[in-house]
Formats: sequence, structure tokens, C-alpha cells
Amino acid sequence: MVVLVTYGSTGGGTAEIAGWIAEEMRNTGLEVRLSPAADVSNVERCDALVLGSAVYAAGWHPDVRRFVRRHAGAFAGKPVWLFSSGPLDTSADDGPLTPGHHAQEASHELHAREHVTFGGRMTAEARGWLGFLARRMARTGQAGDFRNPQRVRAWAREIAAQIRAASPA
Ligand SMILES: Cc1cc2nc3c(=O)[nH]c(=O)nc-3n(C[C@H](O)[C@H](O)[C@H](O)COP(=O)(O)O)c2cc1C
Repeated sequence: MVVLVTYGSTGGGTAEIAGWIAEEMRNTGLEVRLSPAADVSNVERCDALVLGSAVYAAGWHPDVRRFVRRHAGAFAGKPVWLFSSGPLDTSADDGPLTPGHHAQEASHELHAREHVTFGGRMTAEARGWLGFLARRMARTGQAGDFRNPQRVRAWAREIAAQIRAASPA
């Protein structure tokens, strides 16, 4: 049983969330492949998918959208979970948020079991164009790290339990 955990991330915040998910699932004994969506070419050996994206201007990362277009067919009949990482406030932890349109499309195409939204991270230390925006956002109090590792890890353990229940070793 191989679980692919893959993601699109510009500033590294979503990549780290994917890493927490992979670590938590590995701790339950599952075999996990962790990779940026842009680097995934072959998904043949993958039996389950966790796909996540950073949200910019209400949209999913282009690498994740491309992944869905290329690989949706390969995951037909396999369990799929989706997550978005975006809000720079605590709203994601306060209750379920309506998925953005790319997340909704992906849920439909991949017949995903669930989509969840986790808080995002935007700090003034970000580099390049992101850093420029982040410093501007920080001045207006919009920056910070609103990711919740405990919630992410608990979600990963729930998924792992579902996968293991469906395919006892
Ligand atoms: C220019 C810009 C636009 C953003 N737009 C959204 C948005 O529409 N919705 C949202 O939830 N978060 C938005 N965010 C917050 C990011 O999704 C958040 O910082 C996320 O953690 C970035 O992930 P990454 O570090 O993996 O790239 C935006 C951030 C920036 C800098």
C-alpha cells in the first residue's frame, strides 16, 4: 500500500504541511511517497492520494491543477483526500470553509472523499515577489503563521486509519 502525498507550494508553507502529513502517516506504518506535484510523473504504484495546494488569489497552485489534469484517471477507484492552505487568520480552525473553485473541480474529478482547509503562512522573511508582498501585508497586520500542526497531524492520522481499515496488512 503506497500513499502519494503531493502538493503545490510557492513559499514552502504548504510543503511543510505535506511533510507533517507524510510523517504522521509513516508513523502508522504506511509507505508514503512525498513529492512536489511538479516532480510526479509516474503514479502507477500509488494506491491512495493526498493532494494539497497553497491558495493564491482564490486559486490553486498551477502545478496542482496540472497534476489533476494529468493523473485524475489513474486514481479512479482509489481513495483521495484534498487540502488547501490559505487563510491568514484562524477561520480555517473555526469550522469548515467552502472550498475554492479549483478545489471543487478537483474534488469532482478525483471523487475525493474529503477536502479540508488549513490556515496559511505568510511571513516577512519570504523571498522574491512573495517577500515584497509579505512585507507589505505584514505592515497591515495580515501576515503570520496560521497553520495548526496538531490539526493537520490529527487529520493525517484519521486518513491513515481509514486506509489501514480498508486494507488490513
Ligand atoms: C498575493 C497573495 C494572495 C493570496 N491569496 C489568498 C487567497 O485568495 N485565499 C487564501 O486563503 N489565502 C491567500 N493567500 C495566503 C496564502 O495562501 C498562504 O500564505 C499560504 O500559506 C501560502 O502557501 P505556500 O507558502 O505553500 O506558498 C495569499 C497570499 C499572497 C501572498
